[in-house]
Parts: sequence; C-alpha cells; structure tokens
Amino acid sequence: MSSFKDLRIVDNFYQSSSFFPMPTVCISTINPDGSLNVGTYSLCFPYYIAGKDRYAMLLECRNTSNTCMNIMRTHKCALNFITDEKATFREAVRLGFPGPSSDKMTDLKFKMEDGIADPTDKNRPQVMSDAYQVFECTWASELEGATKFKVEDIDDGHPGPYNDFNGITSKYGAHFILYIDKILMKEKYYNAIVNGVTKKDFPPIPVDYGYRDSTNFWYTQFPKLMKPIAEPIPAPKEIDISSIRYAADRCDDKIKFTDDALENFVKVPRPFLKTVLNGCIDWAKENNVELITSEHVKIINDKRKAEKNKK
Ligand SMILES: Cc1cc2nc3c(=O)[nH]c(=O)nc-3n(C[C@H](O)[C@H](O)[C@H](O)COP(=O)(O)O)c2cc1C
Repeated sequence: MSSFKDLRIVDNFYQSSSFFPMPTVCISTINPDGSLNVGTYSLCFPYYIAGKDRYAMLLECRNTSNTCMNIMRTHKCALNFITDEKATFREAVRLGFPGPSSDKMTDLKFKMEDGIADPTDKNRPQVMSDAYQVFECTWASELEGATKFKVEDIDDGHPGPYNDFNGITSKYGAHFILYIDKILMKEKYYNAIVNGVTKKDFPPIPVDYGYRDSTNFWYTQFPKLMKPIAEPIPAPKEIDISSIRYAADRCDDKIKFTDDALENFVKVPRPFLKTVLNGCIDWAKENNVELITSEHVKIINDKRKAEKNKK
C-alpha cells in the first residue's frame, strides 16, 4: 500500500495538481510604440547552465501576452527578480493581470533605470531599480527555426503548426530560450558572491506557490528571523591511489603521472576523475611534458583558478 494518493494531473499541474516552489520575475520588454511593458512570470528557470558557449534561461508564457509578442518582435527582455515585500508582490500581481500594456503601465509603481547590456539599443528595455538582480536577455530565435512565427498570426492564440520547445508551442502557449547577456547584481549580493556568502547575505526572495482557488496568488516571504542554513555535502571518500593510477595509466599512452601527482586527486569525486586527468594531459601536451609531477598539477590548478576568476 502506497502512503500517497494518486492525484489527477490537469492543465497547469504545477499549481493545480501540486505544490511547486517558483521564483517571481517581472519581465520588462519594449512595446511596438517604443514604450515599456512589465509582466509578471514565475515559470522562468535556468536552461543552458554549462558546456555550451552561452548560458540561457527558459520562459514559459501565454502567447497572447504583451511579453510574448514583444519578445517575438524585439528579441530582447530583462528578467527583474523581485524581493518579497508585500507592496512589491502586490504590484507584481497587478502587472500580472491580462490586458493592454497601456492599461497597467500608466500607474507603474516600480522605478526603472537603464540596463548595462546596451542602453543605446532601442529594443533593450529598462530594468527595475529595486530588483536584487536582473538578467538582460536575448531570445535564441534561431533554435528550432522559431523566427518563422509572426506576431500577426496570434489572435485568439496561434493556429499552428507548433514547435516543441522554442517559440509558439501550443494554441495559447509559448516557450522562449533566452540567452543571458548580462547579470546585474546589487552591490551587497555582488560582494557576497565574489567574497563568499554568509547566512546574512541572502536576498529576501519570495517563493511563489502560484494561482490557486481562482482568486489568489499565494506566496511566502523570506522569514525575517530565520536565516538560510548551510548543509555541508558528505565528506568525499578518499580513494586509494591504486585506483587513480589505474585510471591515469589508461588516459594516454605517452604521458604518465608520478605518484605524488596522483596524490592530489584522492578527494576528487569518482565521476569527475577522468575529466581532471584529461585536463592535465591536455596541459602536458601543450607544454611538452611527458611525466606529470605534483608541481605540474599545482601549475595546472593555478591556471584553472585564474581562468575561472577572469570569467
Ligand atoms: C506571480 C505571478 C506569476 C505568473 N507567472 C506566469 C507564468 O509563468 N507564465 C505565464 O504565462 N503567466 C504568468 N502569470 C500571468 C501573467 O503575468 C499574465 O498573463 C500577464 O497578463 C502578463 O503580462 P503581459 O501581458 O504584460 O506580458 C503570472 C502572474 C503572476 C501574478
């Protein structure tokens, strides 16, 4: 007997068939007349996070929204991450009410300012001054040939045919893969990320639980008296050198490692060992080294750290 009930999965299952914690972003875009639009979105998550030449987010939105049509037209948007004050969330909910942009934007309570990606570009929207961070983005319209979709074809939704993951994806739905051009960070949180966070340095982020009971958007505030808790990962098991030697000897037929070089890798988690060893081999080939020593590993590590800091 399961300890769970089997719940029916219906449309908008993330808020109608489950409890799903979501971020809240107010997305700024440029309307056809050059004015600013701000719409509220929660279905906005990291998409390309590593191993590609660019980083990207994924946005899921109604294709009849101002935001969708503006992104299709201009390819640009800014994801403004809001803090959890009641007045801020109230304004986010007001900006989340469907309708013409001009209806809501005349009373905009958020202060806006130029972004940093390219303020001379007329398609680049301003960003929210009170956001704790902003991602300035460009739509990856080339993926899945999504440029074929035209705003003029959207009326009561889009007649199709539809794409699977980028552009118009159903009668009323759209997905946008958004390249991140710039991450703008408020100084306090910038310092926390660069110098190392403590429990005092986390921004107060609301958790959106979505639209429920056909009346309310439900969310939680960041509890003022509680602070984030750091839960350390399990201590890595030290693997003995013979298994590292086994892997190292199979990486390359010419380039070898001394025992003291391999001692440096005893704490490397097993799934990453081959990548680390191959990184050393690549460095050795570039530098005409045939026997990698502990000194070489230190040079390689310093180089890797310097490259990371440059990024
Ligand atoms: C907190 C919150 C989160 C929302 N998240 C989404 C979302 O992820 N996707 C979506 O299509 N609509 C979402 N909405 C509804 C949109 O805000 C709504 O469609 C609005 O009309 C969009 O504004 P726009 O037409 O100016 O783009 C959300 C609304 C609120 C208040």
